[in-house]
Amino acid sequence: MPQVTEISHPLVQSHLSRLRDTSTAPAEFRLLIKRLATILTLEATRDLATREIEVTTPLSRMTGRALATTTGLVPILRAGLGMVESALELLPDSEVWHLGLYRDEATAQPVEYYCKLPDTKPVDVALILDPMLATGGSAISALQALQAWGVPSLKLLSVIASSAGIKAVQTQFPSAELYVCAIDPELNSRKFIVPGLGDAGDRTFNTLR
Ligand code: PRP
Repeated sequence: MPQVTEISHPLVQSHLSRLRDTSTAPAEFRLLIKRLATILTLEATRDLATREIEVTTPLSRMTGRALATTTGLVPILRAGLGMVESALELLPDSEVWHLGLYRDEATAQPVEYYCKLPDTKPVDVALILDPMLATGGSAISALQALQAWGVPSLKLLSVIASSAGIKAVQTQFPSAELYVCAIDPELNSRKFIVPGLGDAGDRTFNTLR
């Protein structure tokens, strides 16, 4: 799986264990998602192009660097919203385009309920934000929308991905780059990631009943 980067950092592992724990309440859950999203964004932006700029410090002039690419953040509603703030902190000039997708409970197929990408020039690089990649259906739907917009570089940032979801995305979008904190082995009969962390949207927004 050459296009998948799994960040096996000790801080990721420890934050991820707290995130998975069923006793972690929504306030801490949101904080942990933010921290992990910061790390994922750092890793996913490692290869962004830069250009030279002149900088005047209080002491002298020097040559610095500035980003030479336009970036777009694409959170998949709802759970992806929890990752936006962290990514935007690091990429403050990014455009943010929301995609509304939910999984039909019976079929596990993604249902689109919001997509308003413009028909103007696309960004150079899009970072799709969604903490969970289960069957891959939602990610593939997002990738299709961004490909139709004409985005040349597509990167998917997920906290936990299943092996099956990664394979599904790679089959349809071999050029997409995936950045994940962990790859979990299984999907259960309801297509939930196992061991996973449950429903990220419900745990983020305290709607678990
Ligand atoms: C979850 C998750 C992903 C999707 C992953 O969202 O946040 O968007 O499911 O599953 P897939 O890879 O099989 O498509 P959900 O549908 O629960 O919506 P929510 O974020 O509104 O809770």
